[in-house]
Amino acid sequence: MKEKDVYILAIESSCDETAAAVVKNGRDVLSNVISSQIALHTLYGGVVPEIASRKHIENINPVIEQALLDAKMELSDVDAIGVTYGPGLVGALLVGVAEAKAIAYAAKKPLVGVHHIEGHVSANYIENKDLEPPFLCLIVSGGHTHIVVVKDYGKYEIIGRTHDDAAGEAYDKVARAIGLGYPGGPKIDKVAKEGNKEALAFPRAVVEGCPYDFSFSGLKSAVLNYLNQAEMKGEEIVQADVAASFQAAVVDVLVDRTMKAAKDLGIKKIALAGGVASNSALREGMKEACERRGYKFYKPSPIFCTDNAAMIGAAAYYEYINGVRDGLDLNAIPNLKIGQRK
Ligand code: KG4
Ligand code: ZN
Repeated sequence: MKEKDVYILAIESSCDETAAAVVKNGRDVLSNVISSQIALHTLYGGVVPEIASRKHIENINPVIEQALLDAKMELSDVDAIGVTYGPGLVGALLVGVAEAKAIAYAAKKPLVGVHHIEGHVSANYIENKDLEPPFLCLIVSGGHTHIVVVKDYGKYEIIGRTHDDAAGEAYDKVARAIGLGYPGGPKIDKVAKEGNKEALAFPRAVVEGCPYDFSFSGLKSAVLNYLNQAEMKGEEIVQADVAASFQAAVVDVLVDRTMKAAKDLGIKKIALAGGVASNSALREGMKEACERRGYKFYKPSPIFCTDNAAMIGAAAYYEYINGVRDGLDLNAIPNLKIGQRK
């Protein structure tokens, strides 16, 4: 007998996107509405938490209404409400969590809290219907750089992590230093296409004794030192070459550590997740490395890499069918760890 379809209304508000989506059985996206605040925060060179919270409050109801409308559904048709409850900016998270609790209470629907990064990983399920755990996932976002073994749905083991900056953070800082502004990642990605990635030799840091770990602070300092010295000597700084050479150093390290982990653990399915996963050089580098070794490579489309609620709906579905339910005491947890429940 065919099992009953499960529809999740998902809400995401952990940083600067207010998003809602309706997802069927964890894999079919019926709607995916994202209201981005990027233009607003660009004025300040980065996300201003207080402004983000206020904007979420303004946007959240219309975004949810649009998500239901696009999916041609009423609130009464959904089976559960999924919501990001951490990690992220506490004021921003609280808007989504409070909204989800109010809807769950009023519509008498189960509530499922979702870890934002587990959402990023689950974005891979949306377009890759054949992807099932176990697989290895490189998570690269504004706040996280991890290599995780996805052992089963909702079961993660972190085997590699950054010791300082996250990959996205390094992109954003270097972009600011070379005058590209915010948001740095996509701008470096674009400008680097015009540059020579071998123009400047930036370091590829190895973390002694931790074969799958990362460190990007030395790379960031090397770029800043190069810029200072070039300026002092009156040398011309070619923005595209700096961007391309910096990006090559990041991508080399990300691909190298992931391939090392895959080989050591004997895992032949590799996925990418997080905002930096939409980086064209990283996607290309990872694809080539996987092809060379006969590994299967999975990545979400860019729209599912940056923050969105469809990925939260995918993660919430697997939690829901595993029996996870949250009460109206669900709270925002800004530093929630992967695999942690409340
Ligand atoms: O996952 P995400 O949207 O938000 C967090 O959960 O942190 O990631 C945002 C990060 C930012 O640092 C942004 O600069 C970076 O992802 N990013 C990129 C690209 N698109 C976004 N980095 C490199 N290349 C890109 N194309
Ligand atoms: Zn994110």
